[in-house]
Amino acid sequence: MATQGLHLILLIFFNHLIFLLSQQEGAGFIYNSFLQAQPDLHLDGAAKILSPDGLLQLTNASTQQMGHAFFKQPFDSSAKNFSFSTHFVCALVPKPGAEGGHGIAFVVSSSLDFTHAVPTQYLGLSNISTNGSPSYQRLAIELDTAKSAEFDDIDKNHVGIDINSLRSIESASASYYSNTKGKNQSLKLLSEEPLQVWVDYERTLLNVTVAPLRIQKPNHPLLSRSINLTEIFPDHKLFFGFSAATGSLVSYQYILGWSFSRSRELLQRLDLLKLPQIPHPRATQKQTSPLLIVLFVLLSLTLLAVLGGVHLYRRKKYAEVKEAWEKDYGPHRFSYKSLYKATRGFEHRLGKGGFGEVYRGNLPRIGDIAVKRVCHNARQGKA
Ligand SMILES: *[C@@H]1O[C@H](CO)[C@@H](O)[C@H](O)[C@H]1NC(C)=O
Ligand SMILES: *[C@@H]1O[C@H](CO)[C@@H](O)[C@H](O)[C@H]1NC(C)=O
Ligand SMILES: *[C@@H]1O[C@H](CO)[C@@H](O)[C@H](O)[C@H]1NC(C)=O
Ligand SMILES: *[C@@H]1O[C@H](CO)[C@@H](O)[C@H](O)[C@H]1NC(C)=O
Ligand SMILES: *[C@@H]1O[C@H](CO)[C@@H](O)[C@H](O)[C@H]1NC(C)=O
Ligand SMILES: *[C@@H]1O[C@H](CO)[C@@H](O)[C@H](O)[C@H]1NC(C)=O
Repeated sequence: MATQGLHLILLIFFNHLIFLLSQQEGAGFIYNSFLQAQPDLHLDGAAKILSPDGLLQLTNASTQQMGHAFFKQPFDSSAKNFSFSTHFVCALVPKPGAEGGHGIAFVVSSSLDFTHAVPTQYLGLSNISTNGSPSYQRLAIELDTAKSAEFDDIDKNHVGIDINSLRSIESASASYYSNTKGKNQSLKLLSEEPLQVWVDYERTLLNVTVAPLRIQKPNHPLLSRSINLTEIFPDHKLFFGFSAATGSLVSYQYILGWSFSRSRELLQRLDLLKLPQIPHPRATQKQTSPLLIVLFVLLSLTLLAVLGGVHLYRRKKYAEVKEAWEKDYGPHRFSYKSLYKATRGFEHRLGKGGFGEVYRGNLPRIGDIAVKRVCHNARQGKA
């Protein structure tokens, strides 16, 4: 009994130790949903974790928004063979009827201070005076959905590698190498479909690979570029995360899942089935439930029945019987309905004759009248 308890305590202790060690080494992390990630992340601007399934929203589709989401713990890049690998799933969802922009960037930064950064084509990374300055110390992989002439963008659907400046040192139209077809396939960044991105850095080579969801990692990267991280980050302190921005062009920009590791071999696989769903803007007009339709039909039928009943009742109430003698008096004929109204429903009886009753009434444009109500079987009145 006592040894069992001790085993349990030791087990818990070792599990905790292993967890602490992996955290200390900064080996990596994985989020198949960001529901529990709030304490680990630095969020600012429009960035927030959406309930109920933990979708990380960097911007919504309002103009001039920007949002940052960074892993709070910095990584030390002083090791001679410093490397890192990351795999994330993101979505840039256009707003129906609006032109989409501006984009998401995977960012390596020496600080978490983005107070002077601006949205639009700066993607929440810098401003006009800091752009291009080496003191700015930022490496970004941009998924850019707007063509900014001032940064020599190639199109409005490209992936680029940016060092301290939004003018990419390397860029390509979004596409991926299909392992099964053996050729390149183009890819739309702005879409309602999520896409996968891999960034691998090893022995000063930086590779960027993109692909649609549910596609194996392509065998060839889209971008491959030799870079020296020590030159960009002389202090060896690296924060990893995301930045996104809108301008007058807008889109909903999300991160669905994120796996990060110091080593490509130890990178944990994202569980694509566990990822949160992205809300589809068009689905906001809720689907009418079948129950509501049934209720509506029932209500309509009831209304129809009631109206039908009222109509029948009125027809009966004002029902007229045309008699042969009436033909001679053609134009002077008053409808039963108007007589009924004139006498307020044969309310005021003046008297009773042999062949019918006489009522007082009033007709517009004629004045007071007396109406004799003749029984159909009375022969007398016709004479
Ligand atoms: C975006 O977020 C802001 C601030 O939370 C809000 O005022 C705005 O209405 C949102 N826009 C859309 C399109 O959801
Ligand atoms: C290089 O990094 C790996 C882990 O990624 C480590 O096991 C190895 O010891 C390192 N080599 C050197 C020379 O630092
Ligand atoms: C740009 O950012 C720097 C600090 O990063 C700040 O000092 C400067 O005033 C900003 N410039 C503009 C035009 O916002
Ligand atoms: C980067 O891509 C090149 C070319 O495909 C490949 O040789 C290299 O191993 C890749 N490196 C990493 C870190 O993915
Ligand atoms: C596929 O795209 C990559 C990256 O843009 C390029 O280097 C390569 O030449 C392309 N391959 C083919 C067969 O077009
Ligand atoms: C990277 O840059 C640092 C500082 O400039 C330099 O000491 C180092 O040799 C460079 N590494 C490579 C692989 O070029």
